[in-house]
Amino acid sequence: MNPDGFEGRLPEIPGDSLHLRWLEPADLPALRAIFGDPEIVRFMAVSCLHTDANAEAFLLSILEGFISGNLYQWGVEFQGEIVGTCTLAQIDRDNRRAELGFALARSFHGRGLMGRAVPLLLDFAFGRLGLHRIEADVDPRNLASLKLLEKLGFRHEGVLRDRWLEADGFQDSVMLGLLRREWRGHD
Ligand SMILES: CC(C)(COP(=O)(O)OP(=O)(O)OC[C@H]1O[C@@H](n2cnc3c(N)ncnc32)[C@H](O)[C@@H]1OP(=O)(O)O)[C@@H](O)C(=O)NCCC(=O)NCCS
Repeated sequence: MNPDGFEGRLPEIPGDSLHLRWLEPADLPALRAIFGDPEIVRFMAVSCLHTDANAEAFLLSILEGFISGNLYQWGVEFQGEIVGTCTLAQIDRDNRRAELGFALARSFHGRGLMGRAVPLLLDFAFGRLGLHRIEADVDPRNLASLKLLEKLGFRHEGVLRDRWLEADGFQDSVMLGLLRREWRGHD
C-alpha cells in the first residue's frame, strides 16, 4: 500500500469522453510516441525518450513515484489509446499541495482533450487526495499550456527568473496556482 492507501496502482479516474488510468508495460510504445517527440518535451523537465530503454526507465520512475507517493502520473486514454499523461508531482502532504503536469501526443492537439483531462485530475486532487493547492511551473514561451491553465482558473502568481538551465540558456518560470476553494464545487 502506498501513502494514500492505494493498492498496487493508481485508481482509474473516469470521465465522459476520456479517462485517466494506470500506465502499464503495454503502454510503452504510446509513452515513447508522446515523450520521444522533442516538440512535446521542449518545455518539460523530462528527457526525450529516444530508445525503448529510456521508455522503460521512464515507466519504472512512474512506478517508483507511485510507491513513494511523491509522483502520480496517469495515462489519458481516449478512444482506446493512451494519447497523453496527467501528473501530480512534488506531492507534499504536510502542506497539502502538488505540482501539475500534462502532455498530449502532437497528433491530438487542438481538440480540447487536455482541457477535459485536467479537470478530472483536479477533482481527484482536491477531493480524494484532499489537497489544498495545485501549482504549475511553466516556461513563458509555452503559450498553449499557459492558455489551458488560465482557462481552468489558475492564477499567475509571479515569475521566477532564470530558474532552469536549458540547452538554449537560462529560462524563467511562470508560476501559477489554483486553490481548492477556487475550483468548481469545492469550498
Ligand atoms: C499543453 C498541451 C497539453 C495542450 O494541448 P491541447 O489541449 O490540445 O491544447 P490546444 O492545442 O487546444 O491549445 C490550448 C489553447 O492554447 C492556444 N494555443 C496553442 N498554441 C498556441 C500558441 N503557439 N500561441 C498562442 N496560443 C496557442 C490554443 O488556441 C488553445 O486556445 P483555445 O482553447 O482558446 O482555442 C499540449 O500543447 C502539449 O502537450 N504540450 C507539450 C507538453 C507541455 O508543454 N506540457 C506542460 C509543461 S508545464
